[in-house]
Amino acid sequence: MSQAQAVSAIEWRDNGLWLLDQRKLPVQEAWIGHPDVASVVESIREMVVRGAPAIGITAAYGVVIAARNRREQDAYEWKQNLKADFEALAASRPTAVNLFWALQKMEQALAALTDEADPVDQLLRVAKGIHSDDLAANQAMGQFGADSIAQHQAQHQGAKGVITHCNTGSLATGGYGTALGVIRSAVKAGAVDQVFADETRPWWQGSRLTAWELQKDQIPVTLIADSVAATLMKQGKVSWVIVGADRIAANGDVANKIGTYSLAVLARHHGVKFMVAAPSSTFDLAISSGEEIPIEERGPQEVVAVNGQRLAPENVAVYNPVFDVTPAQLVDAIVTEKGVIEAPTTEKVMALLG
Ligand code: MRU
Repeated sequence: MSQAQAVSAIEWRDNGLWLLDQRKLPVQEAWIGHPDVASVVESIREMVVRGAPAIGITAAYGVVIAARNRREQDAYEWKQNLKADFEALAASRPTAVNLFWALQKMEQALAALTDEADPVDQLLRVAKGIHSDDLAANQAMGQFGADSIAQHQAQHQGAKGVITHCNTGSLATGGYGTALGVIRSAVKAGAVDQVFADETRPWWQGSRLTAWELQKDQIPVTLIADSVAATLMKQGKVSWVIVGADRIAANGDVANKIGTYSLAVLARHHGVKFMVAAPSSTFDLAISSGEEIPIEERGPQEVVAVNGQRLAPENVAVYNPVFDVTPAQLVDAIVTEKGVIEAPTTEKVMALLG
């Protein structure tokens, strides 16, 4: 098994969709099968699967499952009836634009079906293509990002430590990862020797997933409480913060896991570089700035309790936005599969991707 596939979160096998239940990691590796679109929607909403590209890939397979079931129910009206399934998938989570991007790809595929082969097989081929293209994009990004880090390292000879936030690895994508893909490639190139993983409150993606994934790949990882980042920067132990994204506006504003914005502010203050790694499917060029990005708020349970153990008084008011927006001015580089945008502006983003 190649390093890219050391961990996988989404598998199409036995003619069905299987997802690794990320709520149970790292304690248990349990897979969930998906007989219908309702179960796919629930897995996205309840974060069995999470991470922007992984959500998009899952939704694409969800359309295949929906098409198969609708055709069995009604061989004539199935395409019409699929509309409700597209809507249910689109309503599963609001911030990651990869979800809507993937659904649009599947809608286009539906409109372009030919008589040559079974329509469900044709849709499956498109979904599998979205999956494999994401892996290829991550590997390309890994190379671009690692080259930027190595170049900076050659010029400044700073620490080879980096901070990452949330989980952006194989678990969050079609494989290899966005920010974790860059980190994987940079470790291989000798440009990074230590990864500090934020635990990422309130859902603990860093401690539950990133620490687990990096350990599996034998990449040196040190888990930190989110509030330790400033101290590490002051101590000169990190030269880069490397994160992923859920949606990037045309001007380069970046929506990502809550806490990313604070890291960007801290990085700028301490002269630490701030890199965002995201495939072109994470860009929303229809919106001019991050102000237009819908930010998901989740329930209080994630904040007041850990694994069902309450750590706050009953009925305390809770505010739980799960993403924030980092303004483009605080971003040193956005790494995509098509190249690197340094100090992003609308002009530069449009020149590469528009
Ligand atoms: O709430 P999540 O776990 O779905 O949030 C995931 C993130 O914020 C990731 O950083 C982002 O999706 C990029 S993953 C390649």
